[in-house]
Amino acid sequence: MPASPVPPSVVAELQRQFNHELAAAHGYQALSVWCTAHNLTGFAAFFEKQSGEERTHAKKIIDHLIDRSVDPVLGAVPQPKQDFRSLLDVAQYAEVMEQANTKGINAVFEAALAAKDYPAQVLMHWFINEQVEEEAWCAELIDRVRSASCAGSLSDLDRHVVRIFSDEKD
Ligand code: FEO
Repeated sequence: MPASPVPPSVVAELQRQFNHELAAAHGYQALSVWCTAHNLTGFAAFFEKQSGEERTHAKKIIDHLIDRSVDPVLGAVPQPKQDFRSLLDVAQYAEVMEQANTKGINAVFEAALAAKDYPAQVLMHWFINEQVEEEAWCAELIDRVRSASCAGSLSDLDRHVVRIFSDEKD
């Protein structure tokens, strides 16, 4: 028996959102490149990992669409921002990206609520929780970068950043 149809308004939002997650993956890749170029190998690895997580987020939505007999349509990925003045600027931009992503997730959820599309609502519960975590680590990252006021403490943070945030995210 075919799966029950996904309301068009929800399809449109899910398509938009998984493409947004792919754009976020590209955005984090750009942060990783900046950190590599500035000899911050720990931060580079951290943002690389984050880029991979965004791809898994996109895949979750893609799989949901396929499971419900909708063909996902991949759009063009926009060129990410790459001109940063400092590591603090990078960390603050990560937060801007996550806040934009939260808005996108909320828009999907609102469309799913309006259309009474329960499967998409349940899928979005996971994403809503995830965004709470994503925004929390961004705020902590900004605080930690701001507090690392001398070269020694910054290099210490760079050495441990993957472990600090991986432990908290597990
Ligand atoms: Fe896909 Fe950073 O949330």
